Amino acid sequence: MTEKAKYRTWIRVYKLVIFIGMALILLDALFLPIELYLKVVAVILALPFLYISFLLLYSIYQFSPIGGNYQSRIHDFIVSKVDWDGKGKALDIGAGNGSLIIKLAKAFPEGAFTGIDFWGRGWGYSKEQCKRNAEVEGVSNRVKFLKASAADLPFEDGEFDLVVSCLTFHEVKDSKNKTEVVKEALRVLKPGGNFVFLDLFGDEKIFGDEQAFLEEIRAQASNLESCKLADAVQLPKLLLHKKVLGHARILKGKK
Ligand SMILES: C[S@@+](CC[C@H](N)C(=O)[O-])C[C@H]1O[C@@H](n2cnc3c(N)ncnc32)[C@H](O)[C@@H]1O
Repeated sequence: MTEKAKYRTWIRVYKLVIFIGMALILLDALFLPIELYLKVVAVILALPFLYISFLLLYSIYQFSPIGGNYQSRIHDFIVSKVDWDGKGKALDIGAGNGSLIIKLAKAFPEGAFTGIDFWGRGWGYSKEQCKRNAEVEGVSNRVKFLKASAADLPFEDGEFDLVVSCLTFHEVKDSKNKTEVVKEALRVLKPGGNFVFLDLFGDEKIFGDEQAFLEEIRAQASNLESCKLADAVQLPKLLLHKKVLGHARILKGKK
């Protein structure tokens, strides 16, 4: 049987296990010899955990190829927004299991590609799986993977002709200021080079006031375009919940 690439979804399984576990522990109260009002309280407390568990399960289904395949479709959309002649070097920051950088390598057969990631615990992503996926997809000769933090990229200023990133900046724990992580991505981009970033840029708790954030990025980039993911890709309503992709924006521009 031919081997298939394994990409996994953006939903961390351990989170799902915690929410389902909490809901089950609370619902256990229904079978205990306790007062009825305590059982009612336990069920009420279990409801938010049940709701989040449902949301996570639904998202896994919709992101994966057995459901709506939206994760792959969103990566395809990012590739379609790339404005590049395909000659030179491209970087994906937070490569996960390599899906986006491998799609780019397939779309631009003359380019050289690097995917970096922290590959911390909990995601189920790894450098080994990235390499395996690149081999399976037939692009391993043009794609390399490197363990590094997005907060401190091990590259010279202006090393890349194209920089992309998908849902990574907000996850970077080693930098309190996530706008600085976006600026670090722009540092390694050549003057005149292009970038396409997808992240939760609309979430004020992470990136601060959206207009102020865009002004800061505009100071380092030209032709900056920002749009809601929901306006660019048709998504099921529940994926647009603020706990999933409700705050997601696409940022595209030139340095
Ligand atoms: C939601 S996943 C997105 C993965 C991939 N970009 C995709 O679209 O499939 C977030 C990624 O950010 C990575 N990440 C978290 N902190 C990081 C850091 N400090 N530096 C680089 N990558 C990091 C995680 O390992 C994970 O692969």
